[in-house]
Amino acid sequence: MNCFTRLYKRVVVLTGAGVSTASGLPTYRGQGGLWSDPETARFTSPRAFVKDPDGAWKFWSTLREHCLKAVPNPGHLALSDWGRKLNCREDRKFTLITQNVDGLHERAGSHDVITMHGSILHSRCSNDTCTLEVFQDRELFFNGAPRCPECKSVLRPDVVLFDEAIPAKAEWLVRQALRSCDLFIAVGTSGTVSPAAGFVNSAKYVGATTLLVNLEPMESVNKAFDLELLGKAELLLPRLEAEFFYKQVMFSGDLPPASTDREEYAHQRFNMALSPEEQAAREAHTELLGGLDSVRYADPQFDAWVHRYYAVVCAQQYLNQCRRKYLTEAELEAVSSDDGL
Ligand code: APR
Repeated sequence: MNCFTRLYKRVVVLTGAGVSTASGLPTYRGQGGLWSDPETARFTSPRAFVKDPDGAWKFWSTLREHCLKAVPNPGHLALSDWGRKLNCREDRKFTLITQNVDGLHERAGSHDVITMHGSILHSRCSNDTCTLEVFQDRELFFNGAPRCPECKSVLRPDVVLFDEAIPAKAEWLVRQALRSCDLFIAVGTSGTVSPAAGFVNSAKYVGATTLLVNLEPMESVNKAFDLELLGKAELLLPRLEAEFFYKQVMFSGDLPPASTDREEYAHQRFNMALSPEEQAAREAHTELLGGLDSVRYADPQFDAWVHRYYAVVCAQQYLNQCRRKYLTEAELEAVSSDDGL
């Protein structure tokens, strides 16, 4: 895919309903979308809890039930892994912002998720002056709306509905993250609802690389996206994550310059039966580099990269062995022509 062309240290990812479809949850728009049914679209407004609280709770309880039964998919898990790997380093930051209310990012292990539109797995009092705190609520109310224990007003799910403001804290955290990001990825969102639809513009304004990962093109194309990757988030996100970290190694300054007297590569020994070529490469490696016992790295891609790295900078014999094994046809032709071979 080759999406990442430099080292990125401050990554912001925005997700929408499309990241949860593989977990069996519906989107809001498009075919089968929640809002495509006029009967349910009326529950997108807070007024529904005044006009028809029982009907509203029947709708939201159905969605809460689906969310409770849903499980995180490979897209959620890739984002959780991505965040964990980046946030464990002082000089890196991964921020996950979601428009979804299904709680699947948290259940996939993501931390500090900015839930812009709240969570269906929490409830609060519909009376804004009431002192009742937001609380975790997995109850289903198909036979009548629940009442606030404090003021007897109708309770409601702690989600942001149309004509309601994004919680101030979430808005502040989003601004903070967008102000300094160098990579912005929007995943599974139609880009039709503000303020989320404009986040990519803010990211572009500060010079970030911007990527859209979506099943279909946005209806109104936002030119602030540098790249558009069309496909299923659950398939693309794991590959994007792998490429991101592979490139981190390629572009990061952490690797010492390739010279024959420095052996600072942390190896992880694997009891892998080496092919005859690998054995030969290891012997050439060891012979050439005086004891750097070249074992396999934990990440096969990184292992191949290390051998290519040596192949391009070390002795002809080792060079040819590794070139045949690790370089692509095009790279092989390029380096051979350089050598005049
Ligand atoms: N992988 C990637 N994208 C997908 C997938 C998938 N497997 N399945 C669907 N999509 C895409 C659809 O093509 C669509 O563009 O996800 C997008 C979902 O768009 P919406 O249904 O509009 O959902 P979203 O963008 O999250 O809506 C934003 O609107 O109604 C409000 O509060 C609600 O948070 C919601 C907000």
